[in-house]
Amino acid sequence: MNNRGYTSIKNANLESLNTFGIKSKARELVRFSSSDAVLSYLDAINIEDFPHLILGGGSNLLFTKDFNGTILSAEMNSTEIIQEDEEYAWVKSDAGVVWHDLVQFALKHNLGGIENLSLIPGKNGAAPMQNIGAYGVELKDVLQDLTAIDLFEAKEHTFTNSECEFGYRDSIFKKRLKNRFFITSITLKLRKNPVLNLDYGAIRQTLERNSVSKPTITDVSKAVCEIRQSKLPDPKEIGNAGSFFKNPIVPKSVLRDIQKEYSGIVFYEISDEEVKIPAGWLIEKAGWKGKRFGNFGVHANQALVLVNYGGAKGSDIFDLSENIIADIRQKFGITLEREVNVL
Ligand code: FAD
Ligand code: EPU
Repeated sequence: MNNRGYTSIKNANLESLNTFGIKSKARELVRFSSSDAVLSYLDAINIEDFPHLILGGGSNLLFTKDFNGTILSAEMNSTEIIQEDEEYAWVKSDAGVVWHDLVQFALKHNLGGIENLSLIPGKNGAAPMQNIGAYGVELKDVLQDLTAIDLFEAKEHTFTNSECEFGYRDSIFKKRLKNRFFITSITLKLRKNPVLNLDYGAIRQTLERNSVSKPTITDVSKAVCEIRQSKLPDPKEIGNAGSFFKNPIVPKSVLRDIQKEYSGIVFYEISDEEVKIPAGWLIEKAGWKGKRFGNFGVHANQALVLVNYGGAKGSDIFDLSENIIADIRQKFGITLEREVNVL
């Protein structure tokens, strides 16, 4: 670490910095321990000299080639309660904090709102970028605001929840402001008297099976962890980036066409005109679930997850995703969109 709060490594190995475990290199990797360090760095270089990528935990990225630019790694790491009233506490947490550690901080202080988002890999900084979501809750439901540094103007800004333009796995940072803002901290508004959200998926059944009749947020968190561990591969054992595709939102007419052949199709009502269809269901019905092609393939328990069994190239996984998209388009008339950020 230099006296400006960052370290720089040239020709950096990225294999252990992405959960797909893809072998790849970057021209330079710069690690930041504070937002002041980001500002000092911007003072010392010209950001436009090389392409740049902000890195969190690398759990939603696919490297298809070496990165001929600078990777900016968020490693600022503190969490504190900054304000409280009778009902709420506002928790400010740095971009480099591991998301699940923030969930545990909330559980420890009995603050409700993010227990359903337990065990999502990655760090806080990417959470608003992706508007992470699981089991009926999304980050947008609890985010008060965030701070971010404009990399081109070297200035810190605050974005309110509505300024983030959140959507399903989407935000302004993934679209109009992509690669421009380095998110440095998030502030969440959490409930002192938690209101549980048990309606989604198998949460209630899991609580019943565990004989929990009056669940706390810690019980809900445990149930969510249990469900996730039964379905999703652990990146420490099999390389993956969670759901590779988004669940498509389609007009009801598309659903009705599919129902003519598959009456049992699973779907969720979005509006009077639209439904969300699980991409995992489509990929399974198209025959891809569990298919293995040497050292990569489609996970056997969750068809939405593409996996690296060890030594696969990012381009192999990308090509597999192209083949799946073409096949789903041909069989169901639906074009899947990738959730994972491809580089
Ligand atoms: P990275 O992969 O490092 O980066 C992702 C994107 O965010 C990149 O474009 C990057 O440039 C940008 N970014 C990262 N940090 C910053 C920053 N500080 N400022 C600006 N931009 C930044 N996601 C869900 O929503 N729900 C789930 O249930 C879920 N389950 C998963 C399960 C598994 C097993 C895995 C491997 C992944 C899962 N994911 C899930 C996806 C992933 O965990 C999330 O998208 C997570 O928020 C990514 O965080 P990260 O720090 O690893 O981001
Ligand atoms: N399904 C299948 N076959 C499969 C997988 C799923 O038929 O191989 C069907 C099942 O019928 C199931 C339905 O799809 O009822 C939904 O499956 P699941 O509950 O596993 O959730 P998902 O829609 O596949 C989404 C998110 C996950 C999140 C879970 C829980 C997306 C793209 N994925 O998955 O997020 O954890 O719901 O809320 O929205 C991620 O974003 O990386 C991620 C893992």
